[in-house]
Amino acid sequence: MIRTVKTTPYTDQKPGTSGLRKKVPVFQQENYAENFIQSVFDSLEGFEGKTLVIGGDGRFLNREVIGKAIRMAAANGFGKVMVGQGGILSTPAASNVIRKYKAFGGLVLSASHNPGGPHEDFGIKYNIGNGGPAPEKITNAIYERTKSIGEYRIADLGAIDLDTVGTTVAGGMTIEVIDPVKDYAALMESLFDFAAIRAMFKGGFRMRFDAMHAVTGPYAKEILENRLGAPEGTARNFVPLEDFGGHHPDPNLVHAKELYDEMFAPDAPDFGAASDGDGDRNLIIGRQIFVTPSDSLAMLAANAHLAPGYKAGLKGIARSMPTSGAADRVAEKLGIGMYETPTGWKFFGNLLDAGMATICGEESAGTGSDHVREKDGLWAVLLWLNILAVRKESAKAIAEKHWQTYGRNYYSRHDYEEVASEGANRLVSELRARLSSLPGTKVRGLTVAAADDFAYHDPVDGSVSENQGIRILFEGGSRLVLRLSGTGTSGATLRLYVERYEPEKLDLETQSALADLIGAAEDIAGIRKHTGRDKPSVIT
Ligand code: G1P
Ligand code: ZN
Repeated sequence: MIRTVKTTPYTDQKPGTSGLRKKVPVFQQENYAENFIQSVFDSLEGFEGKTLVIGGDGRFLNREVIGKAIRMAAANGFGKVMVGQGGILSTPAASNVIRKYKAFGGLVLSASHNPGGPHEDFGIKYNIGNGGPAPEKITNAIYERTKSIGEYRIADLGAIDLDTVGTTVAGGMTIEVIDPVKDYAALMESLFDFAAIRAMFKGGFRMRFDAMHAVTGPYAKEILENRLGAPEGTARNFVPLEDFGGHHPDPNLVHAKELYDEMFAPDAPDFGAASDGDGDRNLIIGRQIFVTPSDSLAMLAANAHLAPGYKAGLKGIARSMPTSGAADRVAEKLGIGMYETPTGWKFFGNLLDAGMATICGEESAGTGSDHVREKDGLWAVLLWLNILAVRKESAKAIAEKHWQTYGRNYYSRHDYEEVASEGANRLVSELRARLSSLPGTKVRGLTVAAADDFAYHDPVDGSVSENQGIRILFEGGSRLVLRLSGTGTSGATLRLYVERYEPEKLDLETQSALADLIGAAEDIAGIRKHTGRDKPSVIT
């Protein structure tokens, strides 16, 4: 029944910030997925007889790798797997299932917002029992194991039916196929005022939710249309497709342009939103207003007490370092803790577990709270709806009042994608070497106040993470951040984050408000020279 298969290690299975992410043909190499999954199991202790949650975003290869993972879980001694029907579980829903059923951990199959299909991306990551991504200690152990692995164990279980909800036993292990939406929808109902949102829809409130042919389709259909009574058609592109319909399931102004255009049209609906491939990111566009993720974090934090799940107030707010400082002003006013962490959701885990932060966010369209241990796209959308329903104001009015109270952090991210790694690395190392000479220098009328390479000291476990991004702070509160992406699958991606704090001029156009800073970034870092690009590939 159980086979032990001899294998040889692959040399490229280093888990990145979100686990292992590679092109599909790489994953299709013999024993490739098996090597990684066995390396995960070999790096864990004490899971015999316990439960493993498995689910993915439905992209190409999802079912196949889930089949392998179930057979390997049985052969390695797990007592039970819980798997989403059809192999589907959004990343936040998987986190919830792990927590709710006290599973040992979970395998989440996704390459997030990257395209899917036979020649696109695939990924696997391991989440621990708190529902969050495995910490570095475990991902490092997994990596070490992939370098020496010599065999893996797999059980012959015959055909596995992923499409029928219910429980079967095979190879001594229980396989429970679960409704992927039910537990998640129940969690959302426990946090938000569904009655108030329902009344708002009943009163004619119009919304568009673009699921981008990715995993949140079934969640949005059930929650927005079935439970909250939004008219049919509110959820768009709601059938998950293996290739996301050939699109890039990244909810930004480039890839969700149709939604953006609709929200700025004369007869625009009241509210628009979208989510990414695996459902953890969100895009928020009110009628005639794009809310940047950094602003959204600040506005959600300032109004969270209006939702039943947060009526006791927030314990603290956490944001990734490149995320704008808008939320800091809210934390200050509320008199609660504010934590600045490196890029990547895993750094929020300790703060959430320790009860130091309630709401967290990243500029890359990730927002979430202590309800799960992943960022959560639909959660952010529902919190916005709850706030709109209680305040009975438009998203635009809420944003403008927020800026009047706190001032406005103009913010933009410029991505230089798929540039040669050599040049990108050179840019960073040359800049790093010059950091201490920058303070006091004047660039385009701006004076550098401080410059460093961000290091994070985790207040909970004392761990230190260095070289997390270069920060150049200017007098007056403006800021540039430069860092290399840890999630790209080809070449390097340079990210430039530009921020200007403005207490009074609240209605400037963002890119022109940031023009001097963008010029200063070029002068200081020599982006053109090092990357060979004269403009970014994506501006968000
Ligand atoms: C990107 C985002 C980061 C996010 C990560 C995973 O990482 O910038 O905020 O946590 O994807 O979704 P990066 O490619 O910048 O390393
Ligand atoms: Zn994602």
